[in-house]
Amino acid sequence: AADRYEAENGACQGTIDSNHTGYSGTGFCNTTNATGSSMEWTGVQGFSGDVTLTFRYANGTTTTRTATLTVNGAAAGTLSFAPTASWDTWADATATVPLNAGTNTIRLTSADAGGTPNLDYLEVAH
Ligand code: GCU
Ligand code: CA
Repeated sequence: AADRYEAENGACQGTIDSNHTGYSGTGFCNTTNATGSSMEWTGVQGFSGDVTLTFRYANGTTTTRTATLTVNGAAAGTLSFAPTASWDTWADATATVPLNAGTNTIRLTSADAGGTPNLDYLEVAH
């Protein structure tokens, strides 16, 4: 099973846009193109043991974007978002992390000047 958390229901440091196709829900998070811009999901249900987080993203540039992952404020690694064919093409980036059994806060913070890729949703597989 997997729980999906749409970007439009989280805190997008930028704008929730709908000008590219293929996203789920009502839009996606277009973070500001700057180092440090972020997307945060709160109220993410955890489970005992490690879970796989899947970030659905589009990167219509020709350059990989990177972002740091924090779970409940603690550093949990760096994610690479390789270019997708266009801003209308979406791909998955995954990370396996431990969560608290209750609710969790998960954040991606851009590590380079382009901002994060566009972000459609976070899924927690369990
Ligand atoms: C384009 C694109 C945006 C994207 C941005 C970026 O402007 O339309 O959706 O967020 O590039 O480079 O991050
Ligand atoms: Ca952007």
